[in-house]
Amino acid sequence: MNFFTGKPSPEALSFFKDRNILDLAHFSKQELETIMNVANYYEESLNAKKRLHDMDGKILAALFFEPSTRTRLSFEAAMHRLGGNVITVTESAGAQTSSLAKGETLSDSITVINAYCDVIACRSPIHGARLEIAQAATVPVINCGDGVGQHPSQALLDIYTIIKEKGGIDGLTFALVGDLKNGRTVHSLVDALAMYDVKLIFVSPPELKMPSFIYDKLAANGIPIEETDNLLYASKKADVLYMTRIQKERFEDVQEYERIKDVFILTDLHVALLPPGAIILHPLPRVNEIVTDVDSYPGAAYFRQAANGLPVRMALLALVTGCVL
Ligand code: NCD
Repeated sequence: MNFFTGKPSPEALSFFKDRNILDLAHFSKQELETIMNVANYYEESLNAKKRLHDMDGKILAALFFEPSTRTRLSFEAAMHRLGGNVITVTESAGAQTSSLAKGETLSDSITVINAYCDVIACRSPIHGARLEIAQAATVPVINCGDGVGQHPSQALLDIYTIIKEKGGIDGLTFALVGDLKNGRTVHSLVDALAMYDVKLIFVSPPELKMPSFIYDKLAANGIPIEETDNLLYASKKADVLYMTRIQKERFEDVQEYERIKDVFILTDLHVALLPPGAIILHPLPRVNEIVTDVDSYPGAAYFRQAANGLPVRMALLALVTGCVL
C-alpha cells in the first residue's frame, strides 16, 4: 500500500528553492509532507530504474568534518542518481586534508566553496556550526549533523520509514532509547514528531537525559512524555522503538563512557514484549545496542531505514536547488 499522495504542486515545490535545511523547527507539517511525497516520487523512479536528469550539470559539495558512512555516501549517491556531480572533503581529527587543518575558519572555507558548487551538505563536530555555515553560504546548505545539535535529514528519513512501515505517524507511541543528551538524531526527530499526535517515552540513564529545552518545546505542543530507565517496560508500550548509540566521541571521561556504554542492549527478550506490528529503528552505526539475533525480527527496520536515506536525500537536494522536474 502506498501512503503518499503523489508529486506535490509546483507551488509546494517552489517553497523550498534556495532554503537551507538546518533544523526541522523551521518547517511546518505540510512542508515536511511535501518532502515525504517528493522522496516517494524519487523512490518510485529508482524502483523503475529510470535514469534521472533533474540535477544535470549541478555540483554538490559534501563537506564532512566528522566520520560518516551512510549520510555522506547516500548524499553522494543521491546526487549521482539525479544526474549531478559531487566534490568532497572528508576529514576528522587525525585525518585532515583541507585548509581547516592549516587554521582556516569554517566561515572562510564555505565562502570559497560557494563558488565551486550549487548546494552544500556539511557535517561538523561543533554544536551550532549550522548557523555559522548558513551565514557564510550563498548556496543552499543541508546540515548533516552539527556536534550534539541537529541532524534533520536523518529525522526526515526516519519519518519516511515510519510512514512506509506503519502507514502514518498519528496515534503511535515512540520509545526513544539511549543517549538522548548527545544524540543529534533524536533531537531532530522530536522536532518532527511534535507536529503529530504522538506519545513519547524517553528511555535513558539520568546522565543522558534529553536537554531541557526539548521538554519545553514538547510541552508547548501538548505532547505527553513518560520517562524511564527500564527498557523492558518501554518495550511493552512502543509501536516504534528507536535505539541510539551512546555517543562515545562526546564523553570527556573515557571511564564514564565505559561505565555507561552497555546500559541498554536490545535482545529477543524485549522483542517478545513489543506490541503486535511494532518496529525497531536505529540511525546506525550500532555498536552493542541491538544483538544481531534481533535482525531477523520482521519489524527490525533499521537496514530498510538506512536505504530510505537515498530517496529522502534526493528529494532534499532537488528541492533546495529548485530542480525537481
Ligand atoms: C548518526 C550521527 O552521525 O549522528 N549517524 C548517522 O548519521 N546515521 C548517529 C550516530 O552516529 O550514532
